[in-house]
Parts: sequence; C-alpha cells; structure tokens
Amino acid sequence: MLASKTVVLGVTGGIAAYKAADLASKLTQAGAKVDVIMTEAATRFVTPLTFRAITGRPVVTDMFDLASEWSIEHVALADAADVVVIAPATANTIARIAGGVADDMLSCTVLATKAPVVLAPAMDVNMFENAVTQENLDRLRARGFTIIDPGYGRLASGKIGRGRLVETEKIIGTIQLVLGRKGDLAGKRIVVTAGGTQEPIDPVRVITNRSSGKMGYAIAEAARDRGATVTLVAAPASLSEPVGVEVVHVGSAVQMKEAVAKAVVQVDALIMAAAVADYQPKAPAKEKVKKTSDTLTLALVRTPDILSEVRGDFIRVGFAAESDNLVENARQKLVSKQLDLIVANDITQDVFGADTNKVILIDRSGNTEDLPLLTKRDVADRILDRTSKLLRDRSV
Ligand code: C5P
Repeated sequence: MLASKTVVLGVTGGIAAYKAADLASKLTQAGAKVDVIMTEAATRFVTPLTFRAITGRPVVTDMFDLASEWSIEHVALADAADVVVIAPATANTIARIAGGVADDMLSCTVLATKAPVVLAPAMDVNMFENAVTQENLDRLRARGFTIIDPGYGRLASGKIGRGRLVETEKIIGTIQLVLGRKGDLAGKRIVVTAGGTQEPIDPVRVITNRSSGKMGYAIAEAARDRGATVTLVAAPASLSEPVGVEVVHVGSAVQMKEAVAKAVVQVDALIMAAAVADYQPKAPAKEKVKKTSDTLTLALVRTPDILSEVRGDFIRVGFAAESDNLVENARQKLVSKQLDLIVANDITQDVFGADTNKVILIDRSGNTEDLPLLTKRDVADRILDRTSKLLRDRSV
C-alpha cells in the first residue's frame, strides 16, 4: 500500500518531534519514499541528520538553500507528494496553515499541494483547547484536511490532558486510509467478521477455538486501504483495532449473528472470516460450575448459521476451514450457504496464529484458484480482487 508512494513528512517544533523519527522509519520500512521538511523550530529539537539517515533522502529545512534539490523549485515537493503528513503539528503551524501563510518550505508545500494533508497535532492541553486552535482545526477539517486528534495523558509541561502525539501506528493507519480513498472499493460498504467466537459454559468459562483473528483483521484493513467503508464484527482476538474501521466487539455466535444482521443494512459485501462455533452449551450455568463430580457432561446445541440466516442483496464470501477433502467440502458449503465465493483453507497446514495462509478460492461457476502460500494481507487482497470484480459484474 505504501510502497512507491511519496510521503512528504512535515516535522514542526514541539517536544514530540523526536517521535517523528519513528514514523519516518516505519514509513520507510513499509516502502514509502519519505521526504522530510522540518521547520526552523523543529531543528532545535531533532537534527536533520536524524531524518536524513532514517529516510536515506535529503531533508529540507531552508526554502532558500541553493544546494537543496527541492528548494530551487519551491512547489516541487507539493507536486511530488501522494500525501502530506505533519507530525507533530504545533498550534503555531496549524494557525499558519489555516491562515494561508507560506513563508517557509512546509507552509508553502501545504498551500501548493493537491495531495491530501494529514495533521497530527501535539501541544500543551491549554493550547490545544484554546478556541483559536479549535477554530483553526475546524477550518482545516472543513477544507478537507484529515486531523488525528491528539491523545490524552501526561504532557511535557507535567499537566495531564489532551495534547500527546498519537501513536505511530495510528498515523500510519490514517495515511493508508487517506491514500486508499480512490481505491477500487471506494464508495462500497463491507462487513467483515473475524476471530473465534466464545460460547459460555458459566460466567468464567467458555468454549472457543484457535482462530487468532489475523485473517479477518487483514481483510478489514485491506478493504479500508482500497477505499471501502468497513465494519469489522470481531470475536475476541489479541489484535489492535484497525484505524478507520468501525469495530463491533462480540463474544458468542448468537451475539455475532445479531451484530452482523445489524451491520449488513445497505451493505455491498459480507465476508465471514470468523471461526464461528458450531455448538454452544445448551444452558450456560448462572453460577460458576463446581468440581463436585469426577466427570462432567455438557449438553451442546447448534449455533445459528450466520451466513445462511442473515439474508440480503449483497455479495457473500465465506471461509471453509477443512482438514480433509478440502475442495469438495468447500464446494458443498458454497452451494448450501448460497455464497458467491468461498475461501477453502487447508487447516492441516499451520495456519492458526500464523501470518501466512494457503487457500483455494472457489466461485459459483466452479472455478478454482489455488493460491500459493502468501501473507494473510496478500490473501486478503486476492479475496478483495475477486469481491471487487463480483461487485463490478453485478452493477453492469
Ligand atoms: O459450516 P462451516 O462452519 O464450515 O462454514 C464456514 C463458514 O460459515 C465461515 O465463513 C463461517 O464464518 C461461517 N459460519 C457462520 N455461522 C456458523 C458457522 C460458520 O456464518 N454458525
């Protein structure tokens, strides 16, 4: 997603400027070309050499530096940018940008660019809450800037409040969201499910499975990066919420069914990557079950089949985790659950919790696409390639 993209990273003069080094590093590692512009004040906190070493590219600090590749033509970076990100953005820089000032390389670039601009403010809580700063941010928001609200916590002044630069992951997630706005799924609404459901035995214990949620989360992120509006219905998983995705947390299969039924209103596609329990305890105990006998028998009943029961006019993609007769069993599920596409997952391979997956995609016409071992993110994109095509075919 970030590979081959030009990210112009503006760094302004706040104590959080040192955190921009981590951002520059992660963006560079993700394959982006990162061109850093520092304000004069920023160079008092971190040296240009830091960013030069991290990005492997020249750093602009002076609009009138004749030795700089970019300074000669003062709007060249503005034209080259796929996205401009200012992190940290001080109250001063925010005010200058809101007022259309262009007296240094960063403000000039922001004024001249047609690329989307993302601002991650960081400052003292009183400066952030000041009506002037809030008005400036509202003006910028109204002009299409993306503002990532600062976090709450301890500030350099010792005060506790809103004003901390948000985590690098959140800034990168927002950059991906913004870059994806023109993707092939722009304007589409997609519901994705992920994780393994938990079926209560008593208030303490559950029946669950080994799903890590990674496949479903990867699909949600990939769909976001291609411009879709995504709702992720997530059974418990130890993963952080993807930025820019609406996440609905659920526990049991019954709860997942309710959440999916609510989420699929006016949706274009439902992709059920969750490992939904097939059985649930018939009568979960209200109190913790005591170990009074040597054996214990649990009566189980079937869970609702979400894919079969939640109906509507949308593309339906299911998963089939199989340990034998992979293609044949998956094909039967495609038919019985009336799906448009099924992702057959060979679980004899080590897929649970892994970052890679080996799947076969099977569609209604019986076509099978045997994918090689890929990262879950790549598998997600291949599933979305097919979903995107199904959506295009449907609209003609
Ligand atoms: O029948 P099986 O569990 O193998 O089907 C797998 C597919 O059906 C997956 O996409 C899974 O998310 C979905 N499923 C469901 N409701 C269930 C069980 C599975 O929607 N109760």
